[in-house]
Amino acid sequence: MKKIAAHPFAQALLTWYQTNARDLPWRQTQEAYVIWLSEIILQQTRVAQGLPYFHRLLTAFPTVFDLAAADESTLFRHWQGLGYYSRARNLHKTAKRVVEEYGGDFPSTYTELLGLAGVGPYTAAAIASFAFGEAQAVVDGNVYRILARYFGVETDIMHASARREFTDLANSLIPHADPARFNQAIMEFGSLQCSPVPLCETCPLVLSCVAHTQQRVASLPLKSKSKPSRVRYFNYVVVQKGEYVLVRQRAEKDIWQGLWEFVLVETPESAHVEDVLSAFPFLAPFDAIPLQSPAKHLLSHQTIYAKAWFVRVPDTFERAIPENYTWILSSEFENVGKPVLLLNLITDNLLLQELLHPF
Ligand code: ADE
Repeated sequence: MKKIAAHPFAQALLTWYQTNARDLPWRQTQEAYVIWLSEIILQQTRVAQGLPYFHRLLTAFPTVFDLAAADESTLFRHWQGLGYYSRARNLHKTAKRVVEEYGGDFPSTYTELLGLAGVGPYTAAAIASFAFGEAQAVVDGNVYRILARYFGVETDIMHASARREFTDLANSLIPHADPARFNQAIMEFGSLQCSPVPLCETCPLVLSCVAHTQQRVASLPLKSKSKPSRVRYFNYVVVQKGEYVLVRQRAEKDIWQGLWEFVLVETPESAHVEDVLSAFPFLAPFDAIPLQSPAKHLLSHQTIYAKAWFVRVPDTFERAIPENYTWILSSEFENVGKPVLLLNLITDNLLLQELLHPF
């Protein structure tokens, strides 16, 4: 691979970074555990929202040994609100593997890091460069955007070959003298300057930016439409019996595996209360109070329209409940991992907050 020691792009980027870098806590360390933790959080959320989670998780689990030894449910509780619990599950799995197989020290090369659960090319490059000084360029949507604009690359970023092409280009630019700084700089440049709606007026790279000089900033990078999101209709019934609520842990190979939820009826289209209650005849004798339900809930590949009702059954209620459901003390329900959609549902309904005291 052709290496250019100090490509003008890299020079200009590093100069920009010198005056524009934010002071972020994971930039003050070379400890692989801390860097890994920050990068997994930042896959899930933006810097401002990620910071409190970073501090909370690091306080709860100061070392990889603490995280490996934690219960999954404790980790889920700290993760709560970030969504996408498979990342939390992988976090735990990797912590245990680093302790058991590597004696608590993260592997120190890009290739070995790629072998860890939840660590893809982007995260492996981030850890390898920040913690171990390896010259592996980080490549994500921000980097595609910056390089496509600056160099006028016309490859469709949804195309299978795009990753290889942009990675080769980024790796040809990264200065071997300080790869970590280049990677931090390009991430920062993508967040603050060459954002989706870029700030070209104040950008020091405009004179050599192909997209800017050819007035193609709005059309680069090229991105074909992704396949449409799957639409689903979820109808929740919050069933209360005294101190208990009726819940189940999701076990199917589907979204939210391992998380807890109220009684759920999924319907092929928007449903009425009668359709929902008829799916569970044991509920038929009771009144269902409509709850305020969250507007559409967007996941990466699915759109969920949710409705919800509240049903109180007498303390003496003894009829069989549906398979896989269980009565749980509402105070215990507070401590188990729940999908963000349900957290929103609880937050939006005073009735449920009083019942569940979720925070
Ligand atoms: N997004 C992902 N990783 C990041 C980092 N290290 N700094 C700022 N934003 C990021």
